Amino acid sequence: MKRLLALSLAAIMTLGLLTACGNQVAEQTNETGKETNETGEEAEGTEAESAGEISQVLEDGKLTVGTNAEFPPFEFVDDNGEPDGFDVALIKAIGEKLGVEVEIENMEFDALVASIGNKIDVAIAGMTITDERKENADFSDPYYDALQYVILPEGSEIATFDDLAGKTIGVQLGTTGDFIASDDVDGAEVKQYNKGVDAVNDLINGRLDCVIIDKNPALVFAAKFEGQLTAVDGEQFDFGVENYAIAMPKGDTALAAQINGALKELKEDGTFDELVKKYIEEN
Ligand code: ARG
Repeated sequence: MKRLLALSLAAIMTLGLLTACGNQVAEQTNETGKETNETGEEAEGTEAESAGEISQVLEDGKLTVGTNAEFPPFEFVDDNGEPDGFDVALIKAIGEKLGVEVEIENMEFDALVASIGNKIDVAIAGMTITDERKENADFSDPYYDALQYVILPEGSEIATFDDLAGKTIGVQLGTTGDFIASDDVDGAEVKQYNKGVDAVNDLINGRLDCVIIDKNPALVFAAKFEGQLTAVDGEQFDFGVENYAIAMPKGDTALAAQINGALKELKEDGTFDELVKKYIEEN
């Protein structure tokens, strides 16, 4: 019943849109460049759509997405005060594929997983898939490989994992960098910050020996203090590869299929690579 209702709602919304746009749509390709047929619908929907499975979460035509816009280039607040970045652009493109409006909620990273299913529908935040998080959320297919890096002041003698023992380490609260420093490093004094950039400022001020944070933000932050800070490859510290994915409500297989279907299409049609180029490689 629910599914039927969702389908007819989606149909009504599509009709509404078509009426609003008139015939223009017929001549155009949509924004992602995919060919549209005469009615303006994409020639093929995502796999999930053609299987008729539409998650209840999308019934209102809106996807509320939590992020923590303190993690450039994946998410940051732009000059107009709006969340932007690779993840923000990616989830908007997914929303477009699914025909829903995307609303971004900027919140603390540590609150994201617990907010799924109440304040937010899903979270995209350079979030690494971990077993612990999987107890409370499902993850989409992974979309990006990452690694923890170590930001060091110029001239630091820290060079290996063992050198981290007993040091004062800055991390963003509740991140995988926090878990490494708090759980794996012997005798470290771990200082947890709500924003990675605050840890970096304390490193500059001499209050920390290093900061452990994901590769791309580490490179962005270290570049801001060129000559004073360097971001060192986590391989040198034997840190393992991590996978970023979208965190979703547990057990919503319809939503997972829709999001994974859209992600797959964006990889196939080149949009994903364009976003990597725009946000990650050219920065
Ligand atoms: N990848 C790390 C983790 O999942 C850090 C993510 C931090 N993301 C953010 N938007 N602040 O724990």
